[in-house]
Amino acid sequence: MAGGESERDDPAVRLLERDSCLASVGGWAAEAQAGDGRLVLVAGEAGVGKSALVERLRAGRTADRWTVSACDGLFTPRPLGPLFDIADQVGGGLRDQCNAGAGRAELFRALLHQLGLRGVLDVLVVEDVHWADEATLDLLRYLGRRLHRVRALLIATYRDDSLAADDPLRIVLGDLVRQRATRQVTLEPLSVAAVRELAAGSGLDPAALHRLTGGNPFYVTEVLQAGTAAVPVSARDATLARAAGLPGELRATLDAAALIGNRVEPGLLATVTGCSPAGIDRLLATGLLVDDGSDLRFRHEIARLVVQDAVAAHRGTGVHRRILAALRDVGCDDDSRMAFHAEAAGDAAAALRHARSAARRAVGLASHREAAAQFQRALRFAGGVGTIERAELYEGLAAELSLLERYEAAADAAERALSSNRSARAPSWPGRTRPPPISGCCTTSPARSIWHDGPRTSATASVPATSSATR
Ligand SMILES: Nc1ncnc2c1ncn2[C@@H]1O[C@H](COP(=O)(O)OP(=O)(O)OP(=O)(O)O)[C@@H](O)[C@H]1O
Ligand SMILES: [Mg+2]
Repeated sequence: MAGGESERDDPAVRLLERDSCLASVGGWAAEAQAGDGRLVLVAGEAGVGKSALVERLRAGRTADRWTVSACDGLFTPRPLGPLFDIADQVGGGLRDQCNAGAGRAELFRALLHQLGLRGVLDVLVVEDVHWADEATLDLLRYLGRRLHRVRALLIATYRDDSLAADDPLRIVLGDLVRQRATRQVTLEPLSVAAVRELAAGSGLDPAALHRLTGGNPFYVTEVLQAGTAAVPVSARDATLARAAGLPGELRATLDAAALIGNRVEPGLLATVTGCSPAGIDRLLATGLLVDDGSDLRFRHEIARLVVQDAVAAHRGTGVHRRILAALRDVGCDDDSRMAFHAEAAGDAAAALRHARSAARRAVGLASHREAAAQFQRALRFAGGVGTIERAELYEGLAAELSLLERYEAAADAAERALSSNRSARAPSWPGRTRPPPISGCCTTSPARSIWHDGPRTSATASVPATSSATR
């Protein structure tokens, strides 16, 4: 056997070369169980098996209270999306605070307060934090500093293969690894021996398969499940080969699922495509989609991307339009999600409306990156709005960009805010060469100091510590 096979709990899933990682995390769970809480960071490239490791751990620890949430890579994330997911699952004071629109300091406190209360180990999983919004990163930092007093295990998974040098997650990780509660696991691709074991009986050449996939378990299993006689030229081809056998209407349903995102509500998919439950069963049978108990999801984000990228642009627009309408009909209150589909559908009015709401919510939760992205999206669709409204959007953008220390872009946005305001007031000062003093725009935000004093000195001084509210 290649370095140990962890299939004691569920023989259907073969996890190779992960026994020592599982043993380590199991040991940290025991420490957390004793009241010395742990934060476990699980790192590794896309498809290396982070989620599979967490699932295997969960299968072996049924006495713990598990709460699983994930960050979404499809669109500008909803600030604190994972925390809202957790609140839906644990209920209690946390959910009450979420429903009441509490600020993030109260939300963070409510979550911490609810951990380990019932005498069982609380295991919180936050998957894919490389996509986390800024407020969620602050939540990790907040919990990381306090977990050692709580009967809780927090597992955060992330891809470490595409983190830019200045990725905000890197800074948070630097902080987290200094905390006494933090432990780290980095997953490596599989060896040739493990690939040989997985490929046994397939007729494929294990060495060639290892070369093609680099030992990445997702690619290895994707190629094996495609059932081709020879190793395909790329793992992308392997995924498309699995979708190729579907009849037209089911392929269209699969495409729509890819455009809905990581998590696909079956009811939404049925509304958008008219697909019957039997059709969904057939999609599940391809192995590309899996049913996680309440929702459908792609077996893997890499497979979702492959299917999404193969959808022709003109068809995608119509699908996004139907998704937007269906979400509206069920009263979806996630403005980030609505704004994404509205933009992709080319619905300017809806994109502006939802992006503006999403930006305001992100400002309220101090998710500056997401707020800036939503202001930018709103401005892309602000062609028809009045100058005062456009000035407000630019002012909001300038404030968020300055908090992100992107001073040049902030100064540019502040300038646009002021010139929009000038043109709004133009009729009241005809014949003058300079505008009158402006009130109501750029008077209170960091953008104002950039505008008046230049980016370096005053704007730097105006940047507050983003996590100070949570200490
Ligand atoms: N150790 C392993 N042995 C055999 N197969 C594995 C192993 N780890 C993962 N797999 C297979 O690879 C697939 C991809 O794994 P998984 O989804 O856990 O990757 P991931 O690291 O979470 O990827 P991502 O970063 O995209 O979320 C799994 O569905 C599983 O079938
Ligand atoms: Mg994963």
